[in-house]
Amino acid sequence: MTATFFIPNVNIMGSGAVAEAIASIKPYNFKKALIVTDAVLNKLGVVAGVQKTMTDNGMDSVVFDGAQPNPTVGNVVAGLKLLKDNNCDFVVSLGGGSPHDCAKGIALVAANGGSIKDYEGVDQSPKPQLPLVAINTTAGTASEMTRFCIITDEERHVKMAIVDRHTTPILSVNDTDLMVGMPKGLTAATGMDALTHAIEAYVSTAATPITDACALKAMELISGNLRAAVANGKDMVAREAMAYAEFLAGMAFNNASLGYVHAMAHQLGGFYDLPHGVCNAVLLPHVEEFNSSVSAARLKDCAKAMGVDVVGLSDVDGAKACITAIKTLSKDIGIPAGLAELGMKDEDVTKLSENALKDACGLTNPRPASLLEIEAIFRAAA
Ligand SMILES: NC(=O)c1ccc[n+]([C@@H]2O[C@H](COP(=O)([O-])OP(=O)(O)OC[C@H]3O[C@@H](n4cnc5c(N)ncnc54)[C@H](O)[C@@H]3O)[C@@H](O)[C@H]2O)c1
Ligand SMILES: [Fe+2]
Repeated sequence: MTATFFIPNVNIMGSGAVAEAIASIKPYNFKKALIVTDAVLNKLGVVAGVQKTMTDNGMDSVVFDGAQPNPTVGNVVAGLKLLKDNNCDFVVSLGGGSPHDCAKGIALVAANGGSIKDYEGVDQSPKPQLPLVAINTTAGTASEMTRFCIITDEERHVKMAIVDRHTTPILSVNDTDLMVGMPKGLTAATGMDALTHAIEAYVSTAATPITDACALKAMELISGNLRAAVANGKDMVAREAMAYAEFLAGMAFNNASLGYVHAMAHQLGGFYDLPHGVCNAVLLPHVEEFNSSVSAARLKDCAKAMGVDVVGLSDVDGAKACITAIKTLSKDIGIPAGLAELGMKDEDVTKLSENALKDACGLTNPRPASLLEIEAIFRAAA
């Protein structure tokens, strides 16, 4: 069997990365960028700073700040109009997963035509998207370096998973100076999203030695640094460790894919417009408990990577220790305990479960589930 490893050609990390990245794209001779971002980052002045660096390097740009958290088909349509009206020849995404995914949707449709809905599923587009430079401000989704694009279809209340090699950015940028301002709740939620990427990729049926190495190192960094990053956002050692961790977790899941945590979290996000990382954090221990009958040895490895002393433990006890470590970390950083608290209603569970089973992210979960089993996991997490 073959395995393909996808990652952007160039990836720049650390304090000061934005200036270096923008200078590095001069040889492409791009004329005008559509900067895809959100209203909060625009108001905070982050966008103006990046725009000035671009102007200093001879690149014109126009700002689309309409990417909502959990970006929609409507956001993609609005951004695409601005891109066409301004004859932009490349796209820069600036923000967390929502601006990156919205930008991917815009750039993919700009090159291929039609609607973003046409590309739901795996590798449905014929052509690469318009060139995308992704500047990340959370840690995180890793969308700045993945071939995943998650867009909410507001008519069906479903988050579509567009998994397409053509959505890979040409350049990813993780500048820790842009991450310092993340509030505690966002730091916690996005950090747990990264942990979920690492664990789901490690127990995935498509895991390889490359993705395993990335996933385990990500778990180690997250367990060792997320509490500190939440407690003190200005702790640059913890911030930098989290930036590397989310990137490593991205390398893992971009190539090993994910599992039911993401397949189920996407439905909660699409239905109730909830933060992605929080949905993952709440579901993760419950899905891994379901997986532990087939993935106990792998979950024991995860426990070890998370700093648990697993010497002398059976695989089953190692898996239990992993689940406890996940719950303890979530509690320590203030993640809500259950889905009911987030607004999930019991009468919606069947619909959410049916849609979760259609999500492409669930295909690589190590233990296939029936509809009744997915419903039971949602209820256990309530
Ligand atoms: N494509 C992928 O590979 C992938 C993977 C996982 C999740 N996702 C998607 O990513 C989205 C979630 O992204 P996210 O969790 O990064 O959050 P987000 O992009 O939705 O941002 C959440 C909020 O945080 C604010 N924010 C972002 N960076 C900030 C900063 N540095 N300082 C202060 N405020 C800041 C934003 O303005 C916004 O209001 C979801 O739609 C999810 O489905 C995509
Ligand atoms: Fe995620």
